[in-house]
Amino acid sequence: MTVSGGSLTAAQVPEPAPGPDEVLIEVAAAGVNRADLLQVAGHYPSPQGAPAWPGLEVSGTIVDVGSADNATLLGAEVCALLPGGGYAQYATVDAGLVLPVPENVSLADAAGLPEAAATVYSNLGYLLEDASRKRRVLVHGGSGGVGTFAVQFARKLADAETWTTARGEFTKQLEALGADRVVDYRSEDFAALAQEAGGADAILDVIGAAYFEPNLKALAQDGRLAIIGLQQGNAAQIHLGGLLAKRATITGTTLRARPLDQRRQILAEVFERVWPALDTGDIKPVVTTKLPLGEAAEAHRLMGAGGHFGKIVLTAK
Ligand SMILES: NC(=O)c1ccc[n+]([C@@H]2O[C@H](COP(=O)([O-])OP(=O)(O)OC[C@H]3O[C@@H](n4cnc5c(N)ncnc54)[C@H](OP(=O)(O)O)[C@@H]3O)[C@@H](O)[C@H]2O)c1
Repeated sequence: MTVSGGSLTAAQVPEPAPGPDEVLIEVAAAGVNRADLLQVAGHYPSPQGAPAWPGLEVSGTIVDVGSADNATLLGAEVCALLPGGGYAQYATVDAGLVLPVPENVSLADAAGLPEAAATVYSNLGYLLEDASRKRRVLVHGGSGGVGTFAVQFARKLADAETWTTARGEFTKQLEALGADRVVDYRSEDFAALAQEAGGADAILDVIGAAYFEPNLKALAQDGRLAIIGLQQGNAAQIHLGGLLAKRATITGTTLRARPLDQRRQILAEVFERVWPALDTGDIKPVVTTKLPLGEAAEAHRLMGAGGHFGKIVLTAK
């Protein structure tokens, strides 16, 4: 798979060989992420050393290992977080970025887990430190790939009163995932509603500039705003007085740009603290569309059009 002129075309790429710390995965499925759309549009290139073609997460079978230390992994069905290159038949990945397929999850659906789980955990994991404290969490874009996971995480693992913004037609599906309040972002004012209710202790934001000011309004005292997406702009004005008065904390991260050690640590904690809920089925991957890998461009079109619920996954066979 190569990327040319903003479109995806099938092409022969050499079968990769695992480095000393790596394993080789025969890919069963690759998760589609909004970052992939940015990448093929030329705005979000792969980091140095990573394959140039998209794909931040895959599931599949380990068919080779770079070191005897990892020999026990041979034949294991896994999912993995990649810096790129998942839209392929084979992908190499650091052994520390691989997790087993959870017990009640199909191999294909597991491809939609690593990016959402690691992103949500690395931004909202602190809520698990003191889950007995009653909190209100606001997840923007609850119907998205990250959002459907974040809503379940906030409600089922962090035991928070969970609000989310989404199109109104997704209310029932989001309530089924655990949302206590679904705010239709097209007709309701989430900031005013949250403020009236006493504010959100934590906000996970995928919108960026357009939501910056309303997010500050929606925050409760001592609230934390985690910005992970910039779908509507990256330049915002900040009212510092409001920030001080709320004793607010604002963070921003991108998972892919984190150093390898941090990504390994996040995956290890995700395995320890989130995977048990996937094994029991308390949290489920929400994969609503599966397309063959050769239809990656159609998958990108679907995601780009909006109005999709959950994750889109590309299957290799
Ligand atoms: N920083 C990181 O480490 C990191 C990691 C993963 C993802 N991300 C970012 O997180 C975002 C979500 O990624 P994804 O893969 O989950 O994409 P996705 O599945 O396309 O989800 C995007 C969601 O945003 C919703 N949305 C659009 N406009 C909205 C608005 N005005 N108010 C509320 N929701 C709105 C969409 O709803 P509609 O369908 O109704 O438009 C959709 O549910 C992207 O911006 C991505 O780049 C960041």
